Amino acid sequence: MNYLQFMLTCFFLTALYLSVVSFEKRQRTRLETKCMGHTNYTYLRYRNSEKCWTSSENDKNYLDAVKSCQEQGALLGTIKTKNEITLFRLFTTKNIVWIGLDKINKSTFTWIDNQKPVKNISFYFPGLQASADIRNLADCAIAIYPKLIFRFLLKHCESIDPYICEIR
Ligand SMILES: *[C@@H]1O[C@H](CO)[C@@H](O)[C@H](O)[C@H]1NC(C)=O
Ligand SMILES: *[C@@H]1O[C@H](CO)[C@@H](O)[C@H](O)[C@H]1NC(C)=O
Ligand SMILES: *[C@@H]1O[C@H](CO)[C@@H](O)[C@H](O)[C@H]1NC(C)=O
Repeated sequence: MNYLQFMLTCFFLTALYLSVVSFEKRQRTRLETKCMGHTNYTYLRYRNSEKCWTSSENDKNYLDAVKSCQEQGALLGTIKTKNEITLFRLFTTKNIVWIGLDKINKSTFTWIDNQKPVKNISFYFPGLQASADIRNLADCAIAIYPKLIFRFLLKHCESIDPYICEIR
């Protein structure tokens, strides 16, 4: 990372931190209260988005990650909007995590929380327009955040990776 990138990162993170802290004095939300009851889970809020997340201790394949979250009364984490991407950047210490986005057949993705087909999949995978593009890709989604650039990627579900769990 060069100096300019470093300064920009510091500025960005400070601004995010301040905007999160400025919410602090407000009353607790339902999720915030619930989150406090779960050891190892962190409550985060940014604008109108809030999350209660924890990072995995051990890496797992996609299905085992799903199960592991369920055993904690949670779901594999979802990151659906720009604000939630911001929260993830604040939260994560991992470069790569499984998220609850799954390709259920050759052309359809579903989020783990509602199981409905995702209509605007190109928001998550820019450049993927036609189902023909999607057909040949791996089936499970991962969020990666290696060098200040966040994006989603598809990986083979058997791959062993970290994951985030989410309390609703
Ligand atoms: C919380 O994390 C600690 C250390 O990482 C672990 O030993 C403990 O089992 C976790 N607690 C729960 C409820 O998952
Ligand atoms: C796609 O859906 C997400 C979640 O509903 C939304 O935040 C995002 O703005 C949508 N993107 C487009 C391009 O419609
Ligand atoms: C994929 O699954 C969706 C939702 O269940 C369904 O509507 C669609 O017809 C399926 N497509 C194929 C190619 O099987």
